[in-house]
Amino acid sequence: MLLSVLCTDASLLIVEGAIDGKFDCGYLVSVKIGAEVLRGVLYHPDSSAPTSRVHQYENGIVPFNNNKPSSCVRRRKNKRRWDPNYPMANRSGYNFFFAEKHYKLKELYPNREREFTKMIGQSWNSLSSEKRMVYQNIGLKDKERYKRELKEYKEKMVQAGHP
Ligand SMILES: *[C@@H]1O[C@H](CO)[C@@H](O)[C@H](O)[C@H]1NC(C)=O
Repeated sequence: MLLSVLCTDASLLIVEGAIDGKFDCGYLVSVKIGAEVLRGVLYHPDSSAPTSRVHQYENGIVPFNNNKPSSCVRRRKNKRRWDPNYPMANRSGYNFFFAEKHYKLKELYPNREREFTKMIGQSWNSLSSEKRMVYQNIGLKDKERYKRELKEYKEKMVQAGHP
């Protein structure tokens, strides 16, 4: 299926991708960008949404590694470390907030994508502490997921003889 990927510089890429799994707040996806396969999250705010609705959330994909603000393609310089089985890195509450807001903004203002990053940053700063807590809890849950998956991954590596 074709997925659109939201880069950290707020540009969008249309890529070939697949859904790998489901987690509390969305779907885990792999996307092909050139010769690389990136894993990311397709976030939806309603965790009870049935899988058949997944297409509605295509624009919510965020690259899992949001550390570098430049491009989501050039971001991964160290190819040696890339392993498709490596767990997706934990994302912060803000990452989840960003994905949700970006999806909604794109529906409202499809031609103003360049402004979204700033707009989202501003709404995050003016968020009530209760609401911010909601997203930070999602971030904490994601950290637990990452820890759990990393442990399983390492155990598998040891079993396979590649510690
Ligand atoms: C992921 O977890 C590590 C360790 O707790 C933390 O330092 C890092 O900031 C987290 N990453 C994000 C994007 O929140």
